[in-house]
Amino acid sequence: MHEISDFREMDEIIARHGAEARNIIAILHDTQAKYRYVPRAVFPYLSKKLGISTAKIYSVATFYENFSLEPKGKYVFKICDGTACHVRKSIPILERLRKELGLSAEKKTTDDLMFTVETVSCLGACGLAPVITLNEQVHAAMTPEKASQLIAKLKEEEEHAS
Ligand code: FES
Repeated sequence: MHEISDFREMDEIIARHGAEARNIIAILHDTQAKYRYVPRAVFPYLSKKLGISTAKIYSVATFYENFSLEPKGKYVFKICDGTACHVRKSIPILERLRKELGLSAEKKTTDDLMFTVETVSCLGACGLAPVITLNEQVHAAMTPEKASQLIAKLKEEEEHAS
């Protein structure tokens, strides 16, 4: 879990947008870009700085689907399960990713915060079905085998990096 021990980075984000309540979405957006999720620890801090209640910040953070209050992995897989992808067998891809990473519908992120596996309803690229994204990068015509290869490649890169 990402603990925030000092709020200098938050101060920078707030300074960039201006410490006003109307900038809360932009500030949450940059917070998420920084930490890969919106840590609840920033709510009281933002509340004090922007003069809005933590309840209001919470409602904004939970209203927008793009904000996550849970930590996410360095690599985020989104598996499209819209109609076009579903009929072209997106579920076996999802199952393969979950199995290889020890994840499930309830547990979406690995404990080492390396991988997250999520589903989405349509990525808007139905002609390329089945489609997945890996950190916003689109992978078309996926198969369970290709998904396994992707994971193996990422793990290998991580090993070389460490
Ligand atoms: S249904 Fe998967 S991209 Fe549209």
